Parts: sequence; C-alpha cells; structure tokens
Amino acid sequence: MGNTKRDYEHRVAQQHEGKISEGLSDSALMVRMVAERVYVDGVGPSMDTPSVNYFLGSVAKGSPSRQHHPSSPSAVWPMVRRSLTTAHFVRDMKAIVCKRYGAPEQLQLCDMPAPVPKDRQVLVRVHATTVNDYDWSMVIGRPRIYRLFFGLLRPRRPIPGMELAGKVVALGPNATRWCEGDAVYGDTSNGGLGTFAELVAVPEDELRRIPPDLTFVAASALPHALELAYQAMVDIGKLKDGERVLINGAGGGVGTFALQLAKRQGCTVWGVDTGEKLKAMTAMGFDRVIDYKQQDFTQLGERFDLVVDPKTKRSARELARALTPTGRYVTVGGDPGRLIALLFARWLGRRNMHILMLKSNKNLDTLAPLLSSGALKPVIDGPYDFHELPRLIRRFGEGFHTGKVVVRVAAEGA
Ligand SMILES: NC(=O)c1ccc[n+]([C@@H]2O[C@H](COP(=O)([O-])OP(=O)(O)OC[C@H]3O[C@@H](n4cnc5c(N)ncnc54)[C@H](OP(=O)(O)O)[C@@H]3O)[C@@H](O)[C@H]2O)c1
Repeated sequence: MGNTKRDYEHRVAQQHEGKISEGLSDSALMVRMVAERVYVDGVGPSMDTPSVNYFLGSVAKGSPSRQHHPSSPSAVWPMVRRSLTTAHFVRDMKAIVCKRYGAPEQLQLCDMPAPVPKDRQVLVRVHATTVNDYDWSMVIGRPRIYRLFFGLLRPRRPIPGMELAGKVVALGPNATRWCEGDAVYGDTSNGGLGTFAELVAVPEDELRRIPPDLTFVAASALPHALELAYQAMVDIGKLKDGERVLINGAGGGVGTFALQLAKRQGCTVWGVDTGEKLKAMTAMGFDRVIDYKQQDFTQLGERFDLVVDPKTKRSARELARALTPTGRYVTVGGDPGRLIALLFARWLGRRNMHILMLKSNKNLDTLAPLLSSGALKPVIDGPYDFHELPRLIRRFGEGFHTGKVVVRVAAEGA
C-alpha cells in the first residue's frame, strides 16, 4: 500500500467508516500518517490508537474555535506535542547489535529503527560512548550467572553500551527535565543499555548536564568509573588526608580516578596491575607500582589505611593482612564467589570489609566544578571510531587498555 496522503485517507476512511477521516485537515492527517507509520515500522508508538482517534475526532468534530480553523496546524500541534516527538520522524539509526553470546567479532553494525522515548524518557543522539565490564560480560555471556540478568539464551536487549555523552533530540510525553539540544551525559545502567547506537531512549533522571568546557569524549569517560571510584574512596572508604592507600587493578577506569582522588588529599598511593601497565601508572603519579603476576600485595608485609579493589580475587582473611588496625577494604567488583564470601565475612563480624553497590550518577553534579577546571580528568584510551567497537570490546576484555576506552559515535559539532 502506498504512503501518499490519498492512500492514508482511504485507509483511515475504511477503518473508521468515514466517521473520523471526513474533513480531516492536512495537519490532522499528518498526525494519523506519522502515528500509523510508527505502527507499520514496528518502532513502537508513544501514542496509542485511542489517543490518535481522540485527536482526530476532536479535530474533525472540533471545539467551536477549532471548527473555525480546522486546517490550521496550530490547532493540532499543541495537542500532540507532548505525545508525538521528533523521534517519530527519525526513521533509522546505526547500532552495534549482539544477537547471541560469543566472541566480540560476531557483533554486527546494523541499521535499526530509532527508539521512541516513552513516558519520562528522552531520546539522546550519542556523540561518545565507552566500553565497560558489563559490555564484555554481556557480549561473551560470562560469567554465566550474569545471563540471569542479560537473558538466558541470548541477550534480551541486543544493543550493548551503558555510558554516553550526547545531545537530547526529543522528549517523551511526560519528560520535563531536559530540552531539545541539551548536552547530557550519564551511566544508563539502571535505565537499560543500548548506548552503542546513534540514538538511545534514556529515563531523564539517568542523565546529568555536561559540565562547561568538557568535550563529549571526555564527558563519556566519567560517569561510571568516576562514581565507582568516588563512592569506594569517599562515600564508603571515608578517605582521610595523608593516608596510605592501595588500589588493586589500578590501571583501569576506576583505578585512575581513585589515584586522583587520593592525591588531592595528599595520600601515598600504591597501585597493583599487570607489568605492561606499570610504566604508565608511574607516569600518572602512583608512588609505588606492583605487578600482580609477580607479587601478592597481601604478602608484602605492608599495611594500608584503605584498600580499594575493582578486581577482588582473595579471601577476607588474606585481605585483612594488608590493613592497619583501623584500615578499610572496599571491593568494587571481582569474582562472584569471592564477593559472596566477603558478604558472609562482613555478616560474621569483619565490619571493615565493604562491598560497593553503585548508585549511578549520584555525585556527578557535585563534582562538576572539579571536572570543568581539569582538577579531575579521565585517562582516555582512544577516541576510536564507532565501527571499531567489536575489536575494542576484545581489547578491553583482554586487558590491553589503560583508563577508559572511548568511542566517538557522532562528530563533536553535530
Ligand atoms: N559495585 C558495583 O555496583 C559495580 C557496578 C558496575 C561495575 N562494577 C565493577 O567495577 C569494576 C570496574 O573496574 P574498572 O572499570 O576499573 O575495570 P578495568 O578498566 O577493566 O580495570 C581493571 C584493571 O585490573 C587489572 N586486573 C585484572 N586482574 C587483576 C588482578 N588479579 N589483580 C590486579 N589487577 C588486575 C586489569 O588489567 P589486565 O586485565 O590487563 O590484567 C585492569 O587494568 C568491575 O569489576 C565491575 O564488575 C561494580
């Protein structure tokens, strides 16, 4: 069936026995056409059939004032503005799609229908995104227990990616926090994944305004790792001036922010990671670096006031050996079995062992002045091109990155 005004008018007339379509103005017909095309394309409507009919019915029958101007777009547009966003006009986008669990090389760059923001979501044009642990685990489907969240047989949400910086291009019907054109960033892991795409629909509360003077590339590298580091070091670890701090898994996203936070408070900071990263870590400012393949930091006879660990692989008893009597240990992540054991250890009385439960985007607005002034900076691996994502996910998973792997999706000025 064709897509001309006449074809649609004919279909509408058939469906509604001529009751509604008769006397349809151009603007009312446009509403019908766009709404129907959303259904036809399977993009998923934000305006249901009764509300479409309500609009059209009221336009066709009309209030007295509208009967005077039945064909005026201004009579229709305010009514549909909150329901029918520009998202309905954005037909396709490019996205990295994961159809089954396996090697990152099976990921495909596909044309997909653009999402339509619902309720309090906004549609964001993604300018930059990053690779995180979630993406690696979701693509390879391991540890297998994670499939309970990602989908048992294949990923429920086929587009990975959880961190973004970009611009708001459309609003859902009940979104009030942002305007079209606002530059935003955020960790979207609470509101669904999908940032490895040109467009993504995100709950409006999962976004923050990009601080002045930050590029999209720099902003995209902040929300997840900076929050993990800040909440581990400050909110839970209660970092104090001049303390001795050790960061295990220090060369990644969390470690490089944790170092900066500790140095701001005049702390001595040791970092543990693979031998290949130690030179770069020394250049970043770690006072002492250790290769975890050569030495076990719990066996050095050294004591620390705070140990922050994005890669927990040891028991509570072993970890306690590296702590001063008032020392705190905070795990950010690691082997699921070790994390469960730590939880039991805490219940059994090791109150200085903490497990971080991330609160996404919690401190970003408070930290904005430090980010704008450059007092806190992401360490960026990249930026790389969008089509390189499969290779970059492998690079991340195999640990060849330092800091945050950033991918440019749209040009900065776009
Ligand atoms: N708590 C929460 O609510 C929450 C939420 C989301 C994510 N997470 C967790 O947060 C962590 C993210 O950290 P990140 O972004 O900094 O990761 P990352 O960028 O992958 O950095 C981790 C670093 O640790 C190194 N490493 C690997 N095994 C190690 C070992 N046995 N000992 C010492 N270092 C080791 C890695 O190097 P190589 O691989 O090259 O050896 C890498 O440089 C993940 O564990 C993730 O699961 C937690």
